Amino acid sequence: MTDNPASALEQDQLDAAVSAAEKAFESAADLNELATAKTAHLGDKSPVLLARRAIGSLPGKERADAGKRVNVAKQAVTAAYEARRSVLEAEEAERILREETVDVTARTPRRRTGSRHPVNVQMDRIADLFAAMGFTVGDGPEIELEWFNFDALNIHPDHPARTMMDTFHIADTNGEFGSNLVLRTHTSTVQIHTMLNQQPPIYTVAPGRVYRTDEVDSTHSPVFHQTEGLVVDKGITMADLRGTLDHFAKALFGAEAQTRLRPSYFPFTEPSAEVDVWFAEHKDGPRWIEWGGCGMVNPRVLRACGIDPEVYSGFAFGMGVERALMLRHGITDLRDIIDGDVRFPAGLRVEE
Ligand code: DAH
Repeated sequence: MTDNPASALEQDQLDAAVSAAEKAFESAADLNELATAKTAHLGDKSPVLLARRAIGSLPGKERADAGKRVNVAKQAVTAAYEARRSVLEAEEAERILREETVDVTARTPRRRTGSRHPVNVQMDRIADLFAAMGFTVGDGPEIELEWFNFDALNIHPDHPARTMMDTFHIADTNGEFGSNLVLRTHTSTVQIHTMLNQQPPIYTVAPGRVYRTDEVDSTHSPVFHQTEGLVVDKGITMADLRGTLDHFAKALFGAEAQTRLRPSYFPFTEPSAEVDVWFAEHKDGPRWIEWGGCGMVNPRVLRACGIDPEVYSGFAFGMGVERALMLRHGITDLRDIIDGDVRFPAGLRVEE
């Protein structure tokens, strides 16, 4: 600044004002200091603003040139200010982020109060295992038309299997559904839904809840879970079934698990078999344990779903989820699984 307003317009004065401003802005350590420097170098009493005011006292012909030079100087000061401001603002934002960050992975002293139900964990494992083999994961309704639960599966109204698996019936009193409804007694219903909805090749697995009129005891419950498997493709044989079950058993029970098939009967498979698993470490000594049912899909079932049994063949299997869970963990009473005591799953080695 100078006493003579016109001397503020000297070029070297303007240059000095610009470099003083640049230095002041550069050395401002935070936004507060920058604000103070701004008042000094861009405020009303700053050299550049005073210079601008001094233009008025110049003779007319010099004004334009002085105006231009003052403007250049002012723009330089403003640019220096803006540059420093954006640096300091970015630093400030970073500091806030750093100081206010919450470590979401930090351990808290809170106790774990529960976990997913072991049956659901087990069904997810099974679905994952088959998904890894390229199977889809299927589903079906728990309230079924009798046709899906029995007839389409070749279980005719007078068939003994139908009484064997008798279930919770809901009478179709108003003729609304054209058939009685049942709570599905097995996940084999999903075989029918899948084949009606989809043409072969079919590779699907369907874990789900089923219902039977059983009394609750240490091995029975009116509500339990099964896993159904269904493959329909060209050239499928019983060897494919064996290989799949063997892999399934090893994945579920451990690498040393073995399977064997025993001839059996199910209306929806022909031939049919029971599948057993070898338990080397069973609490009552090494032995074969019945695991589930299986077989080659009965051509009548394929035909009921509009699939030509001359072109396609398939296999199916079905096993209880609770049963496998009990075998795997040495659980002796099924009621422990359904009681809802939070200490129960915590005591199991159930991988999530
Ligand atoms: N649905 C049968 C049951 O609940 C189990 C079963 C047996 C399923 C043989 C199948 C099969 O898919 O092929 O007892």
